[in-house]
Parts: sequence; C-alpha cells; structure tokens
Amino acid sequence: MTETEKTNDSKMPNDPTLDASVQWRIDHGTIDLREPGYRGTAEAILDAGLATEIRRLISAGKEADVYLCTYNGAPLAVKAYRLYRTSHRGGRPIKVDTMSWLAAHEFEMMRQAWKGGAPVPTPARRVENLLSMRYIGNEAPAPRLHDVRLEAPESFLGTVLAGVDALARAGIVHGDLSAFNVLVDDERAWFIDFSEAVRVDRLGGSPWVPLTEASKLLTRGLQALQLYFRKYNLTIETEPLVEQIVQRLDRFGVLE
Ligand SMILES: Nc1ncnc2c1ncn2[C@@H]1O[C@H](COP(=O)(O)OP(=O)(O)OP(=O)(O)O)[C@@H](O)[C@H]1O
Ligand SMILES: [Mg+2]
Repeated sequence: MTETEKTNDSKMPNDPTLDASVQWRIDHGTIDLREPGYRGTAEAILDAGLATEIRRLISAGKEADVYLCTYNGAPLAVKAYRLYRTSHRGGRPIKVDTMSWLAAHEFEMMRQAWKGGAPVPTPARRVENLLSMRYIGNEAPAPRLHDVRLEAPESFLGTVLAGVDALARAGIVHGDLSAFNVLVDDERAWFIDFSEAVRVDRLGGSPWVPLTEASKLLTRGLQALQLYFRKYNLTIETEPLVEQIVQRLDRFGVLE
C-alpha cells in the first residue's frame, strides 16, 4: 500500500470528497466500511445534546437504529439513521449528508402531522442524521401492530383508519404504511417511520401529480394493513376510502 492510499484510508468514513481509488475499493467491496457502533452513535446523540443518557437500543433496522434515551430523566426515543445502508452487497455508501437529509425529511413530516393533530410521537429535535421524539411505551416500548394479537380488532381497525384520515387532514400521506409502522399503546394507534411520507396540503402547479401519487401510496398502505387485519376476518374497503380522502384533498377538482 502506498502512502497516498494510507492517507485515503484514514480519511474514510464521511469524507465528502472520496478519492477515485477509494471509491473503486468501496464499489468492489475490498474496503471495510464500518458503521459507528453502539458507542459511537451513543456519543453522537449525547454530543448533539439530544439526550442526557442513553438507556438502550430498541431497534436495529436496515436504515436506522432507534434508542431509548432520557433527557434529564424524561424518556425519549432517538432514531439514528445509519450512515451507510447495510445489506445490499455492492451498494454505494451513502454519506452523512444524505442520511441527514432523510432525518430532516422525516422530522418535517412528523412535525406537520403532529401540528395537524394526527397520532404521531411528538417530534422533539433533529441534528444531522439523528432525530428525537416522544417515546411511546412504558418499561418496554409499545409493540408494533404486527406483533400484537388484538382483543378488539374491529374497533382498533377503526382507530387505525381514523389515524390515516387524520394524517391526510394534517396534509400527510404516510408512504410506508403497514402493521410494522403502527405502534399499539393500549387503545391507541401511533404512526411512526415517516421517511417516505409526502405532503399533500400544498399541491403546487400540477396538483394531479401529487394527488395521483397520494392515491397510489394510500392504496398500497391500506393494502398492507389489510394483510394484517385479514387474520381477524376484517376487510378494509380500500377503494372508497382512498377516493374519499383524495377527493377531499383535490380542492380544485382536477381529478374529475
Ligand atoms: N417513538 C417511539 N417510541 C417507541 N418505540 C419506537 C419509537 N419510534 C420507533 N420505535 C421502535 O423502533 C422501531 C423502528 O422504528 P422505525 O420504524 O421508525 O425505523 P425503521 O423501520 O428501522 O426505519 P427504516 O425502515 O426507515 O429503516 C419501531 O418498530 C419501534 O419498535
Ligand atoms: Mg419501520
């Protein structure tokens, strides 16, 4: 290894200007790109001032990890976007600015939803690729809808659909709706994971584009929820529901 390569190596993780030879080795998997581990991320959360104590890791996902933290004793959930997507082999590393953008987007979407009164954890702050919000749960985090056996499934389905409607009224379509992104806390349904959400309150110059997209996302989301509710023999009337929501959003009647 030459001296220059060594220098490049030590520059590795987040340097925005990757030398071509380093890029080549990333592309060919001959370089070890290590994600900051638990300690590194915990330190970043503390340094950013998002929390004063890290309790533990709640979830390790493909794109993000979620930590239970506290801020002066009060619990908080902190979602830390990974700097590199794991798992797809040969995938390009995604630099910190991209992940910060994702965190910023999710934060904005949650803030919009929360402002409009939709059932989402209150967003607190966002710093770079880190995002803090209200922690849903007690000792243990609230389970995902996917992992619970409901006692009153029909009424809970009503709660979930009311939540989807409330989100749309707040100007948000979730984008990745499924039983994995709804937390169950007693009788309440909390929507999380807004990284793919879109705003539908300001439709811009060609409103049919976002409206068509919203309709597609809503349909896909309700179908994903249907997969879960099927085991209780409950049916979601996807088409009329989507139509109702989209028609309300379509204030100028462009889809008629
Ligand atoms: N506010 C919260 N309170 C309690 N637990 C949470 C909270 N936010 C997230 N979690 C837990 O962390 C898990 C992962 O969160 P989330 O769905 O936002 O990320 P992800 O699916 O890993 O992200 P992505 O799909 O973008 O990679 C959730 O399933 C839930 O168990
Ligand atoms: Mg998720």
